[in-house]
Amino acid sequence: MEKRTGKKSLLMLIILTMSLCLISACGQTPAPDPGEADGYTLDNIRNYVVGIDEEMELDNGSKKAVTNFDNAATTPALQPVTDEVNEKLQKYGSIGRGYSQKSNYSTELYNDTRDKVLEFVGADPANYTVFYVNNTTDGLNKLATALVEDKSDVILTTRIEHHSNDLPWRENATVIYAEVDDQGRVMYDEIEKQLQNNDVKYVSVTAASNVTGYVTDVHRVAKLAHKYGAKIIVDGAQIVAHRKFSMLGKTEDENIDFFVFSAHKMYSPYGGGAVVGLSDVLMEHMPKFYGGGTINIVGDDWVEYAEAPKSYEAGSPNYPGVVGLGKAIDILEEIGFDNIEAHEKVLNQKLVDGLLKMDNIIVYGDYEDLSDRVGVITFNFSDANSSLVAEELSQHYGIATRRGAFCANPYVWRLYGLTDEQVHNFAECSDVNTPGMIRVSFGIYNTEEEVDYLLKVLPDAVKRAKKTNEKNWNMANPEY
Ligand code: ALA
Repeated sequence: MEKRTGKKSLLMLIILTMSLCLISACGQTPAPDPGEADGYTLDNIRNYVVGIDEEMELDNGSKKAVTNFDNAATTPALQPVTDEVNEKLQKYGSIGRGYSQKSNYSTELYNDTRDKVLEFVGADPANYTVFYVNNTTDGLNKLATALVEDKSDVILTTRIEHHSNDLPWRENATVIYAEVDDQGRVMYDEIEKQLQNNDVKYVSVTAASNVTGYVTDVHRVAKLAHKYGAKIIVDGAQIVAHRKFSMLGKTEDENIDFFVFSAHKMYSPYGGGAVVGLSDVLMEHMPKFYGGGTINIVGDDWVEYAEAPKSYEAGSPNYPGVVGLGKAIDILEEIGFDNIEAHEKVLNQKLVDGLLKMDNIIVYGDYEDLSDRVGVITFNFSDANSSLVAEELSQHYGIATRRGAFCANPYVWRLYGLTDEQVHNFAECSDVNTPGMIRVSFGIYNTEEEVDYLLKVLPDAVKRAKKTNEKNWNMANPEY
C-alpha cells in the first residue's frame, strides 16, 4: 500500500516537472506580481511591506510580528521600492563624474527623477529647482546655511515645529515664533502680527505636526508671508506620504517657495529626500557644504562654484536614495492620496473613540474635530508613566509606538501645560524620566483590526505599567 502511494507521488512529480519544463520552454512568463497586475491599492499594499511578518521576541520569550504604529518616525520599506533599487543597482556607476555606460545611465536616471519630484509637488520646472538631501533635517540645515546671511536675518517659525525646523534657524539667524492656541493649532493671526512687527526674511512652517498631526494651511501662511515681503519654507516631513501636496496655491501669492521632505517617511529608507525651491534664490546662494561635485573649476587660490542644484549636492550622490524616492512617489500616487486621507480618518476616529472610553485618558489636541489631522494621535494616562506604558505595549504585546517629546520639545511642553521654568528645573533632575506622551502614527498598511488590538490590550499595559510606576514621573505627579 505504502509502495503504491510512493510510485503515484513519483509519477505526479515527473508530470509536474515536465509541465514546468514545457512552460518555460514555451517562454511563458511567471504569474505577474499582483501589485503590477492590479496596481498598488490600500487593500493589497500590506502584502508588500518588508518585514511585516517578521517575528520579534517579546518579554516572555515568545515571538510575534510587530504591529507598527510608529510611521511618523519612519516607515518600513515597500518591496517594490527595494526591488527597484536592486534592479537599478545593476546599472550603477558614478553620477556626473564617470565615462561609462553605467555612469551615463545612473546620471540620467538621477537627473530625470528631479522632474518626477517637481511634478509630484506641482512645481513649475521653469521656476523651481530640486536638490537632493539625506532627509528633511539635512535639507533644512542646508537651506539655513545657504539662505541666511547672518544673525541679523529674522526667521519666523511657530511653536508647533519639531527641532529640525527650529534649531537650524536658531543657530544661523534670529528666530521669532508664532504661538499655538490652547488646542495646539497654529495661530494665523499670530503669524500676521509677527510679520507686521518684524522685518522677516523667511517664514518656515511645518505642513503637518509630528505630535498632533495638525495640518497647517501653508498656502494661507504663504499669502501672509508674501504680503509682508518674506518667503516661505515648508517642512513637508509629515505631509508627504499622507496628503496630496502642491506648491501651487490658488493664486500666485499662495505659492510655496521652498518645500523639504524625506523619502524614509515614504516607504523608501535609503536616505533620500529633496528640497524643491525657487531657482533664482537657490542660484544666488550656497550652503556651507563644500567639496566634490559643487564646482566648475578650482585654481590654487580661487574657486568657481557650479550653479544649483550641483552647488547644493557636495559629495557622491545617493543613487539608491533617489531611485527609491522615485519609486515611492509612483506607488503613493497609484494608491491615491484621497484614499490615504480617507483611510487615516477612519483609523484616527476609531482610535480616538476607543481611547476616550478609557479611565484617566488624556488625548492631546482637538479630539472632537479630527478633520485637520493626518494619522497621528498622541495620548497619556494621568495615573501611569508613558514610558512604561509604551514599554509594556512593545515588550509584552508587540506594539510599536513612540514615547517622549518627539523631537518637538517646546510644542510638547505647551500641550502639557508646563512652563519653560518647570521644564528647565526638570532637566536638572537626573533621577527622573523626562515627561512624555505616547504617540500612535499610521501608515498606509495599518488596519482597523490593528487599532482594535491596541485598544484591547492598552488597559492591561497601563495596569502592568502602574505596578512599577512609583518612582517615575506621571501626569498626576508633576511635582518632581
Ligand atoms: N521627527 C520624527 C518623529 O516624529 C523623528 O518621530
